[in-house]
Amino acid sequence: MTGAETLTATARVDQEWAGEVRRLAAERDAVILAHNYQVPEIQDVADHVGDSLALSRLAAASTASVIVFAGVYFMAETAKILAPDRTVLIPEVRAGCSLADSITAEQVREWKAEHPGAAVVAYVNTSAEVKAESDLCCTSANAAQVVASVPADREVLFLPDQFLGAYVRRVTGRANLRVWAGECHVHAGISPADLRRKANADPRAELFIHPECGCSTAALWQSGEGDLPAGRTRVLSTGGMLEAARTTKAPAVLVATETGMLHQLRKANPAVRWEAANPDAVCRYMKMTTPAALLRCLREGVTEVTVDPGVASRARRAVQAMLTAGAR
Ligand code: 13P
Ligand code: SF4
Repeated sequence: MTGAETLTATARVDQEWAGEVRRLAAERDAVILAHNYQVPEIQDVADHVGDSLALSRLAAASTASVIVFAGVYFMAETAKILAPDRTVLIPEVRAGCSLADSITAEQVREWKAEHPGAAVVAYVNTSAEVKAESDLCCTSANAAQVVASVPADREVLFLPDQFLGAYVRRVTGRANLRVWAGECHVHAGISPADLRRKANADPRAELFIHPECGCSTAALWQSGEGDLPAGRTRVLSTGGMLEAARTTKAPAVLVATETGMLHQLRKANPAVRWEAANPDAVCRYMKMTTPAALLRCLREGVTEVTVDPGVASRARRAVQAMLTAGAR
């Protein structure tokens, strides 16, 4: 077989797979939601691709009987909290999150006991049980607005991401914000040094930085100090990056987040050279949703995500507040 023939055969298999996925989704009356970090094939076959906030809103608004969540477990759980009467399926049940694992409900209860009266603001990257212990949820797209909605004289316990928390403290100027010391191993690995080196090597490039990154607060400080290009450095959620991608005039953009994001950015603006700030920033959990796993999920109806109804109803108030807070 020639190279061209092999390519055609591969494209045919991909097309057959996508056709079968769409057929099974229609048969089950399922909507497929995919996070921006999923592998390109999954993003391309999904009904909607987006950031945590957009996908939560879509799950809440969807009228489909089944929600297939191509993402990680806390995202599917959030969809179930918002759509308790719907069947929520996750193609790979082992797709966890190192950040969500960095705090338990018991630890939240202990932390609250040490700070009576404080408002607990939980990042969406948390388990349903942790959300149930929280007053408000947020995503990276609206963390600062959610924190700002708490009266200025009330102490805030922000969890679990230390970099997002430090970023929020810096942009809100809030001194009474305590931050849990959790982190995402993927984003924590994108260092200020990586970013500075790449930005210096490419003086016309813009910098899009996810606030979970180890470099995010440093980046704000560095741009304030002139160490990073102030006019070219932006801290954005993955959805915010996509919006900014459509209008950027820069010839190149350095992207500091999980590398799956590059697929949507390249599609949104192919004229720009999109480059990962750290090409090793790959989330193994997000990549567990393979084309085969999605097909099996739709064929066999596995794995169904359940949340204890008592936990879900306590978590729902906090999650609903996240949906109505400003987007970015
Ligand atoms: P977004 O909220 O920007 O989608 O980022 C979430 C994230 O890191 C998912 O793990
Ligand atoms: Fe969790 Fe980090 Fe993976 Fe996002 S990139 S799912 S925060 S481990």
